Amino acid sequence: MSVGNSDLDHQHRRLIDTANMVRGLSGDEDAEIIQAALDEVVEYILHHLDFEEDLLAKNSYKGLIEHKKKHEFFRECVQTIYANKSIATSKMLSDTMDRLIDHIMNDDKEYICCL
Ligand SMILES: [Fe+2]
Ligand SMILES: [Fe+2]
Repeated sequence: MSVGNSDLDHQHRRLIDTANMVRGLSGDEDAEIIQAALDEVVEYILHHLDFEEDLLAKNSYKGLIEHKKKHEFFRECVQTIYANKSIATSKMLSDTMDRLIDHIMNDDKEYICCL
């Protein structure tokens, strides 16, 4: 599942690990644990999306605008989740992570040729 860039590969692996961690949350955990996990998820997803877009721009990726639109969906999802912490461990968070993993395994492969 390499995209041909070690930084991005590392970030994708960490996001997959994070998705597994989110799936492991039952919702009964201590509020501080949930908050810490949520902060990490939101911060890391936003960091990854920015990093990837910067790298694609530096490599003059022709599909960048389209790819950014796909990232925008995830930005909106995590911001909604973060703004409404009561649903943080609900289906929305795990659905968002599932869709993000799907994005990594499919959409992110489209730019391999330009890196
Ligand atoms: Fe990615
Ligand atoms: Fe992406």
